[in-house]
Amino acid sequence: MNVLITGGAGFIGSHIVDLLVEKHYKVSIIDNLSHGKKENINSKAVFYEMDIRNEKILEVFEKEKPKFVIHNAAQISVPNSIVDPVNDASINIMGTINVLEAARKFNVKKIIYPASAAIFGEPSYLPIDEEHPLEMLSGYGVTKHTVEHYLKVYKSLYNIDYVSLRCSNVYGPRQDYSGEGGVIAIFCEKLLNNERPFIYGDGYQIRDFVFVKDVARAYLMAIESEAQGIFNVCTNSKVTVNELLSSINSILHKDIAPIYTDSREGDIRDSYMSYDKINRLLGWKPEKSLIEGLKETLDYYNKYSKSESIV
Ligand SMILES: NC(=O)c1ccc[n+]([C@@H]2O[C@H](COP(=O)([O-])OP(=O)(O)OC[C@H]3O[C@@H](n4cnc5c(N)ncnc54)[C@H](O)[C@@H]3O)[C@@H](O)[C@H]2O)c1
Repeated sequence: MNVLITGGAGFIGSHIVDLLVEKHYKVSIIDNLSHGKKENINSKAVFYEMDIRNEKILEVFEKEKPKFVIHNAAQISVPNSIVDPVNDASINIMGTINVLEAARKFNVKKIIYPASAAIFGEPSYLPIDEEHPLEMLSGYGVTKHTVEHYLKVYKSLYNIDYVSLRCSNVYGPRQDYSGEGGVIAIFCEKLLNNERPFIYGDGYQIRDFVFVKDVARAYLMAIESEAQGIFNVCTNSKVTVNELLSSINSILHKDIAPIYTDSREGDIRDSYMSYDKINRLLGWKPEKSLIEGLKETLDYYNKYSKSESIV
């Protein structure tokens, strides 16, 4: 079965590719390597270095004839979407429409798309479920949710099935640890280098961290089931940023104190999400505990730092 994945050289996308290859899918990737890495790309996948906004993606669809499209390519930085909303919308909205049009022209059966917790704003109740009201605080939030509208429209106009996976904070091997990376990647890199990480605010803000291989499994289940619509992908567990740092410290047998600094404008105080719906309809639940996931992630950064300086 042919699956085309945009953003397959990226953090989450590359883990999905690995899982699909392992399950004997025929996988092709479109990625412009603006944030993804060549070394993330599974050698059994066919790789097209291309921007999703390029009309040449039609040739890729014609050649690969995907039955399923996983549309992961995106501008993923919330701050960048505020500084340059035109670029954000150009990739996340116009680029997506280019992908949807190609999917329509070449009779794709189903599209799987990752939305984000960034569409909820400051939660009005917890845990956040799929019915939670939306309140976008950045261009990124707007573009991620706008695509959900387009998916619904392409379903009603052209009968292309879709699943939107609203992922909480995804973490794991290969995540970027630079300024735009996730907090776990940044903490791991800092502590491995015996540096003090910054914590914005008092560190008691709650987050929901889901391991990337669990997320990849949700994509696979979305492909292999008849399920449609919107699903949260998360752990429904509450971890404060302070607890997170002390867990990483304790795995590394270190005791590095953070540097507390002002909260960032637009940062949400507490957020965790319910996975009841995806559990009921697809049978998905997170399998990796935070400690196991952190160990695997640290192991990756440790090996990575030995092959290449991570400072
Ligand atoms: N990381 C998270 O916690 C999280 C949470 C919710 C949703 N998401 C969504 O999951 C998806 C993947 O995120 P990620 O964390 O793996 O990010 P990532 O940056 O590692 O992956 C995105 C990939 O898309 C590629 N890309 C970007 N612009 C492109 C373009 N114009 N044309 C072709 N390729 C392009 C990048 O090179 C990169 O490989 C994104 O859609 C993101 O919005 C991520």
